[in-house]
Amino acid sequence: MIEDGDMQDDSTQAPVESELVASPEPRPAAARSEERPLADLPAGQHGARMGGVFEAVSRGVAFDTEVHATMAGKDCVIEIEQFNLWYGTAQALHSNSMGVPAGQVTALIGPSGCGKSTLLRCVNRMNDLIPTVTTKGDMRLSGDDIYGPGVDVIELRKRIGMVFQKPNPFPMSIYENVVYPLRIDGLRDKRILDEVVEKSLRGAGLWEEVKDRLEDNALRLSGGQQQRLCIGRAIAGEPEVLLLDEPCSALDPIATGRIEDLIQELKGHYTILIVTHNMQQAQRASDYVAFMYLGRMVEYGPTQDLFLNPHLKETEDYVTGRFG
Ligand SMILES: Nc1ncnc2c1ncn2[C@@H]1O[C@H](COP(=O)(O)OP(=O)(O)OP(=O)(O)O)[C@@H](O)[C@H]1O
Ligand SMILES: [Mg+2]
Repeated sequence: MIEDGDMQDDSTQAPVESELVASPEPRPAAARSEERPLADLPAGQHGARMGGVFEAVSRGVAFDTEVHATMAGKDCVIEIEQFNLWYGTAQALHSNSMGVPAGQVTALIGPSGCGKSTLLRCVNRMNDLIPTVTTKGDMRLSGDDIYGPGVDVIELRKRIGMVFQKPNPFPMSIYENVVYPLRIDGLRDKRILDEVVEKSLRGAGLWEEVKDRLEDNALRLSGGQQQRLCIGRAIAGEPEVLLLDEPCSALDPIATGRIEDLIQELKGHYTILIVTHNMQQAQRASDYVAFMYLGRMVEYGPTQDLFLNPHLKETEDYVTGRFG
């Protein structure tokens, strides 16, 4: 099994991309999990909608995600449809569907191991790096197929910035960290690179702190500064989407507050999909929340509704800290 720590690499880092393997073919239908639609079950077993979701999941009964009506008709940059993923024979994502609204912050929450990071990594095809992974289903970025035949994964990743749990600056200067993705693309014009560094570091809320020490090694920055540098690097290529996998979990409350403020400043310009374990953070920082459990998308809706008026008892129990 690969832990999150093993995947902590920036999507623009050349060595990772050079290791890319072709996406495997979807598993044949017969090999997929046998989920039975609720309608096929005897009357007494239709409990999923009325607080029996976890039981239904453990019995392998299929159920539809509880999507709040107010999610309808949103302009979505990422569309996920009936997406499944297997690590070898173990299914980690089961028929996940959701749209991620443009220019807003959407949070994925759920107990450890429920598939949040897996789903996030599917969006920029980071899971291609794991040879045992197979997928089935559709994902689209601004209408473009993410898993279609002939997709250029490196081009795809330029449209999607990613930031991990643990800050992972490269062992080089602050300046070179930010321009790294552009250098890989062959950009050499110092004037343009200077502009990108200032714009990205301003965007990441770090410019004032580092503008006089851009040649310093990035590893000398504090953890919070390193994480903002990683955000700066992720936005240097002006992606459409930012994927953040627990970006504050290694930070103290002050550094966490700065990242949360930054997320508010970045939204609008970027569509943000963030994984968080912190319910307060999800409430403060996101516009929409999806609650996942054992690889299923259980409930999805506007943040305040999901926290204050969840439709399912399971969601309420989770967001109020009764389990997980
Ligand atoms: N590389 C891997 N190989 C095999 N199984 C994996 C791999 N990565 C994750 N898994 C399994 O897939 C499931 C979902 O894992 P994932 O890391 O996506 O969960 P998560 O919701 O992000 O958890 P956490 O909150 O602890 O980060 C887990 O059962 C996990 O053990
Ligand atoms: Mg995770």
